[in-house]
Amino acid sequence: MSTAPDLLDVYGLSAFYPGGEESLVLEDVSFSVAEGEKIALLGANGAGKSTLLLTLMGIIEPHSGRIEVEGTVLEKKTLPLIRRKLGLLFQNPDDQLFMPTVYEDVIFGLQNNSVDTAGRDAAAILERLEITHLKDRMPHNLSGGEKRLAALASVLVMEPRLLLADEPSAFLDPRARRRLIAVLESLSQACLIATHDSGLILSLCARCMVLHSGRIRADGPAAAIIGDRALLESCGL
Ligand SMILES: Nc1ncnc2c1ncn2[C@@H]1O[C@H](COP(=O)(O)OP(=O)(O)O)[C@@H](O)[C@H]1O
Ligand SMILES: [Mg+2]
Repeated sequence: MSTAPDLLDVYGLSAFYPGGEESLVLEDVSFSVAEGEKIALLGANGAGKSTLLLTLMGIIEPHSGRIEVEGTVLEKKTLPLIRRKLGLLFQNPDDQLFMPTVYEDVIFGLQNNSVDTAGRDAAAILERLEITHLKDRMPHNLSGGEKRLAALASVLVMEPRLLLADEPSAFLDPRARRRLIAVLESLSQACLIATHDSGLILSLCARCMVLHSGRIRADGPAAAIIGDRALLESCGL
């Protein structure tokens, strides 16, 4: 039996927001993600999906519990290492894109890390997402679908081992949504995707976790969970 750590191990994670000490937003959340695994994170509005993703990135500090990435415990001093392995696609691309052009946004993290192939890597990811024609555009003026792909490029260019995505298909028109799903499908790395999009889940994710009031209510094969009407209704879905 191998005892190698998983890509991600979460043990008994709890979290609350400042001032909300009495009500936990995440409560005793435990799960693991294996290399390359694609997992949907389903849950009604307010279930705690975004909070969980932000906590995994070390943006929100947990109240209790432990997060390990390839066996390294997430704490202040390991944060830079862990942020090289995890990438978060924010729910709102405007939170991700802040440079004057798409190209500068995409190359920003690489330059920050003094990656000497930055120019080549940035060009390659733009090409792969078929958005090279957008490279000199202002992110601010892009359509919702274009913004989403530009934000995804800025995350993927850093080659995270685990992509966290917060409702990536929300507000996209059908064509942009299909494009996004195709890109996510083509990724070899693990993904944890907060979403309400059952089409996206079924075409992308073998596994689905259901979060309800901060707790994991179900974790299993996506097809079975999406088909479990009673479970989904009891979780406000
Ligand atoms: N910055 C915040 N301050 C206080 N409470 C928050 C904050 N962000 C979210 N919450 C609360 O935490 C709970 C979970 O929210 P969230 O993680 O955004 O859920 P989801 O992403 O599943 O819709 C909700 O009750 C929400 O109101
Ligand atoms: Mg959310």
